[in-house]
Amino acid sequence: GSTLQAAAAETNRYFGTAMAGHYLNNSGTMTIVNREFNMITAENEMKMDATEPSQNQFNFSAGDQIVNWARSNGKQVRGHALAWHSQQPGWMQNMSGANLRNAMLNHVTRVATYYKGKIHSWDVVNEAYADGNSGGRRDSNLQRTGNDWIEAAFRAARAADPGAKLCYNDYNTDNWSHAKTQGVYNMVKDFKARGVPIDCVGFQAHFNSGNPVPSNYHTTLGNFAALGVDVQITELDIQGSGSSQSQQFQGIVQACLSVARCTGITVWGVKDTDSWRASDTPLLFDGSGNKKAAYTGTLNAL
Ligand code: XIL
Repeated sequence: GSTLQAAAAETNRYFGTAMAGHYLNNSGTMTIVNREFNMITAENEMKMDATEPSQNQFNFSAGDQIVNWARSNGKQVRGHALAWHSQQPGWMQNMSGANLRNAMLNHVTRVATYYKGKIHSWDVVNEAYADGNSGGRRDSNLQRTGNDWIEAAFRAARAADPGAKLCYNDYNTDNWSHAKTQGVYNMVKDFKARGVPIDCVGFQAHFNSGNPVPSNYHTTLGNFAALGVDVQITELDIQGSGSSQSQQFQGIVQACLSVARCTGITVWGVKDTDSWRASDTPLLFDGSGNKKAAYTGTLNAL
């Protein structure tokens, strides 16, 4: 294949990108999105603060712009994200207890119902595990509603859109030896054992010099897949430039290709200058839309 999506399709995988609403105003960026990618994640426009700015008053206009562009151009959509401790609307941030639990479940139900039939996979719960060595849950207002909040969110999402794949998504879960990775693994194992509806695990894959691509990545992806879930790289970006950056992207591709249930890779934006961490130049295209060494390495590894 001569594009990322075509090369990935040769092994029945997808290659995606995050896109922000402002990409739609930049024809150069959209030419790249349309040519290279066949899975779209809204960078911010489908998050809780965007879709429910006032309690029980939903606004899907920014999300719809992205979803409608994607679908009318033959792309699939990854929904991101139904329940998360971050980017909550102001009204939710100080809620607690049963009120918060019910508000969260209402949000999951209403958003997943609105987009029913249009979403390939939902990030149902994002970033619920703690960094560091505990292997436990992150403290958050949602966690304080009770340890079963994650499975409650998954059950609500399944009921609302039975056709969407339901994923748990997190970062720093790449290295198999990290406690956080083990914590998420044990949750997924428990969910599968008890019939909690989970179909997939997303690995954000935000890497930098202090947090490099682990050499055991294929082990991590393979062990999760062996639990009976698909795995995906969902927000890939890697600090750096030139051949060292390219080799790290190639390592990610090789790890995914080595696991049958690794079904796709999504990068977290198109041009370096549009990245949420632009100073890391972590993407596949430079600010002018030129292909970087990392692009060529990724394409050749697929
Ligand atoms: C980031 C966006 O890229 C930024 O534009 C925004 O200001 C903050 O969120 N993990 C996630 C993504 O799941 O939603 C985050 O996206 C990056 C980290």
